[in-house]
Amino acid sequence: MTNSSTLVGTDRPRLSWRYSSTNPQWRQQRRELQLTRANGAVETHAAADAEQVLVEWPFEPLSSRERATVRVRGGDSDEWTPWSEPATIEAGLLSPTDWSASWVTPTDVVGVDDPAPVLGTEFVVGPGIVAARLYVSALGIMVTRINGVPVSEDHFAPGWTSYDHRIRYQSYDVTVLVSEGNNSFHTLLGNGWYRGRIASFALHRGHPYGDRLALLAQLELRYADGRVELVATDGSWRSGASGVLLNDFYDGQFTDLRVDGYAALDRGVTVVPAPTASLATPESPPVRAVETMTAVSVNTTLDGRHIVDFGQNLVGWVRLRSRGRRGSEVVVRHAEVLEEGELSLRPLRSARATDRYLLAGTGVELLEPQLVFHGFRYAEVTGVAELSTTDIQAVVLGSQLDRTGWFSSSDAALNQLHENIVWGMRGNFLDLPTDCPQRDERLGWTGDIQVFAPAASTLFNVAGFLSSWLSDLAADQLPDGTVPAVIPRVFRDVKAFAGWGDAAVIVPWVLYERFGDAGILRRQYRSMCRWVDRVAELAGPTRLWSTGEQLGDWLDPLAPPDDPARAQADPAVVATAYFARSAQLLARAAAVVGEPADARHYGILAEQVRDAFCAEYVSSSGLIRSDCQTVYALALHWRLVPDGPTRTRTGSRLAELVQQQRYTVATGFLGTAVILDALCASGHRDAAYRMLLTHEFPSWLHAVDLGATTIWERWDSMLPDGSVNEGEMTSFNHYAFGAVADWMHREIAGLQPTAPGYRELRLAPTVGGGLTAGSARHLSPYGEIAIEWHLAGSGFSLTARIPVGVTATVVLPDGSEIPDVSHGEHRFELERFVTDAAIDGDRTDVSAASEAMRSR
Ligand code: BGC
Repeated sequence: MTNSSTLVGTDRPRLSWRYSSTNPQWRQQRRELQLTRANGAVETHAAADAEQVLVEWPFEPLSSRERATVRVRGGDSDEWTPWSEPATIEAGLLSPTDWSASWVTPTDVVGVDDPAPVLGTEFVVGPGIVAARLYVSALGIMVTRINGVPVSEDHFAPGWTSYDHRIRYQSYDVTVLVSEGNNSFHTLLGNGWYRGRIASFALHRGHPYGDRLALLAQLELRYADGRVELVATDGSWRSGASGVLLNDFYDGQFTDLRVDGYAALDRGVTVVPAPTASLATPESPPVRAVETMTAVSVNTTLDGRHIVDFGQNLVGWVRLRSRGRRGSEVVVRHAEVLEEGELSLRPLRSARATDRYLLAGTGVELLEPQLVFHGFRYAEVTGVAELSTTDIQAVVLGSQLDRTGWFSSSDAALNQLHENIVWGMRGNFLDLPTDCPQRDERLGWTGDIQVFAPAASTLFNVAGFLSSWLSDLAADQLPDGTVPAVIPRVFRDVKAFAGWGDAAVIVPWVLYERFGDAGILRRQYRSMCRWVDRVAELAGPTRLWSTGEQLGDWLDPLAPPDDPARAQADPAVVATAYFARSAQLLARAAAVVGEPADARHYGILAEQVRDAFCAEYVSSSGLIRSDCQTVYALALHWRLVPDGPTRTRTGSRLAELVQQQRYTVATGFLGTAVILDALCASGHRDAAYRMLLTHEFPSWLHAVDLGATTIWERWDSMLPDGSVNEGEMTSFNHYAFGAVADWMHREIAGLQPTAPGYRELRLAPTVGGGLTAGSARHLSPYGEIAIEWHLAGSGFSLTARIPVGVTATVVLPDGSEIPDVSHGEHRFELERFVTDAAIDGDRTDVSAASEAMRSR
């Protein structure tokens, strides 16, 4: 339990706690939770079990706005721990009737290309104020200030949800911002995702969510005598035009710094009907500035433009200090790569990604947008006479996720690959999981997050972030169960695509496995069933999903550059494999949520699909239709081909293909996520290592050699000569191929969760690929797990740290297993063992005399 204050959107929040240290024999066998309400009432609840993660609220529900503290202690058979520090919980506005505020919009219609409006009011605070809470939401995105001070460091709130169904509201403690006497309240509204080009992507949707921006704000002032005063949006509020002349996520922001938009609220507002969508408390962390990067170099061209390199492909904006004549213009353009020293803009397609400023001429001015973000490593600045690296910074923006996973090895290129994956994730986890952050897209493509979810869950705590997105997925799912390919939905035409729609089942399952959250399965269960039922309908009695358009093994390196869906893998084989996988996971989910009849039903369905898959697509000699890496990878990793001689031959065929392709990758989005696991599952671990470690094109390390700092959309987004791939889709920041990070943590470092929430582990590093060291740390729901191994000569050593509540089986590279390793620090050594250094073709046979030493 943490002792900071947490705002919750439910009357029964679940509770988790971690133990920092206990003696090695201690196990939680009992627990006691104590709630203290604001009126001093105390409730205590005791249970005799080992639960400590996402424990159901055992008290009477909280009411709206209620503040309470909770503390916990745990006990084994005879000893209690001391009580934890109390954690403070505050409930938000839990019922629609808690809202007195009305939605308001500027009276003079403000179009998408008009200056961004400011809405505001003045209010008086009387003596004896003890607390002020602001509940606020917008159609559009908002920046709210009280007395000129921003109410938070959040950006782009309330974020992008399925606005037709749910809109988030933010809650802020603004007690320190209000003072006795006159006060002012201003909110700047931007187009954000609500309207503008992003919401009408390629005009498929045909219309943005709405054409008018709006604000809902309720400031509650609480006085010492218990009185509460409300300052709430209504028809008396005022509006005005800000100096933000244009703002669009794709195109950028145009700001006139001569205009003080907060000064002149010279127009009225109109009360508009409340949207039909429900107001939701955020489950995901806010978007914030998470880091600031200094420029690595500034090159000034002959015609006076400055090309700035930040050394890292990132997402955010440029902050620039500049001085100039009143009304003179400064322009900042952005790009991920350079071609011949100039910004390569073609990959941005129609996104102009340009911020412009008209200077106020008041001396040194700070230029920084507020209502847009860009994906870039390079910026071109014009309109500034001189620019040095100290005048300019890149502000990195993203959802403020807690980092949970770290990895390191003895191979520097591999470490850089991991770093690139982390950066790719940071850039694409900006309020929703996107395909890419820079071009005219930035959408929540379901297939991309479906393959990346395990890696994402390893690297950062994405439980709330993805759970929020899954609410949108369920909300946007069609009545027939079809899952739109992008969530929130923007396309009018929606088709069911294998691997994309399966996000409905696979993402909740990954969250359950990694965060121990059975609640997410319960909440998504209907959505999961609806997807599988829909696929069953599409497949029909044959159980083979062989009809309809598919995206398939998208971006297979051998597909034509202008037709990424034309992969080597037969789309029907891929679709049927996914059908089997989702049915199988759904059967397991049904068992977890206590639906035994469904568990049986979907279990039988999964078997039928597997049988049909084998009968139709797998020959007795183990060949799978379309005979390419992806079809074998899916079939092996998901055990669609049962154990036996056919499976052995299937595994050998995959290894043979991989070898024939000189260990380069020949898979697209779907195959790449599972190929290394499939090689391991069929006994070809050395081939998996070779594939991961090859520098030949196409491979993960090829891009690293070409200087990549994020994961690219295509294996050859940049060609070896430094030119940019001609294909329409050539992003330099797409996380899908970074799914391999999960394998790196599980296989190289050997940190493998085997029960939900990492409650049980296998610590089983596979030594290979010529690596001499590997390590990972993971901040699990129970606490930090760490593993680190080294080779020295023929000796092997492994250290591990396990938190209270977690048990591990340690498997050493000689095959010896040490079960039931509990919390604490442990060290294991092998004096001599067989290293399988097949990567270099030289197998070192050291006699297998090994000894496992265990110490605490
Ligand atoms: C996106 C992908 C996505 C794909 C599917 C692309 O434009 O960038 O990542 O999954 O379309 O069609």
